[in-house]
Amino acid sequence: MARMRTKRNIPARMDRCHERWFDAPLLNKGNWRTACGFAEDVPIWLEIGCGKGKFCAEMALRHPEVLYIAMERDASVTLAAIEKAHELEIPNLFFIRGDANMIENYFAENEVDRIFLNFSDPWTRQNKPKRRLTYRDFLAKYKVMMKQGGAIEFKTDNDDLFDFSLVEFEETGFTLDQLTRDLHNSEWNDMNIRTEFEQKFADQGIPIKRVVASC
Ligand SMILES: C[S@@+](CC[C@H](N)C(=O)[O-])C[C@H]1O[C@@H](n2cnc3c(N)ncnc32)[C@H](O)[C@@H]1O
Repeated sequence: MARMRTKRNIPARMDRCHERWFDAPLLNKGNWRTACGFAEDVPIWLEIGCGKGKFCAEMALRHPEVLYIAMERDASVTLAAIEKAHELEIPNLFFIRGDANMIENYFAENEVDRIFLNFSDPWTRQNKPKRRLTYRDFLAKYKVMMKQGGAIEFKTDNDDLFDFSLVEFEETGFTLDQLTRDLHNSEWNDMNIRTEFEQKFADQGIPIKRVVASC
């Protein structure tokens, strides 16, 4: 039987990248630009549940004009991405260890310009829709954090989660745009960056759903 590889020295490895990531995000609520060394007019883009971090690294490199903050509740999943961002010295990419359930404690009103939710856990089998990151209580919190005219970009492989999310977005007063149930064969494919999960689902032939919800 193959042995599970464990990640060693997580605290020491995290410590080496301490300028790159924040373990106590509530300390920077309302102060993220200054905390990361950016001017007050720089847009903040926030990814929630960034996983292994391919998407955030490519987005930050593609958009040097924004401060990109990638949030993940399991820091060990993101460790390699944090180390890569540190080695490559990607200047506008920072990571926070945090849980979306506490998000109102991390970001102040109108602090964030754009939010990315990529392949969020569907909670379908367990039938716990209130845990979905697109449940209306989460959307209401994101709305407070976001500037007027801000948007959430949402991608998923899961039809149930997608249909559920469209209703939740509309019920929370978001306007839907760029809606597709087959992103990789749509007009938006060229600008799309695939996440790790997205590639896995695409390899299985599962169409990717995407929508941009503006407030
Ligand atoms: C299915 S994975 C998708 C990872 C990545 N976005 C991708 O597309 O490859 C979902 C990720 O969201 C994280 N996550 C789930 N619930 C979260 C929450 N409440 N707050 C922060 N991260 C969360 C999980 O730890 C996991 O890394």
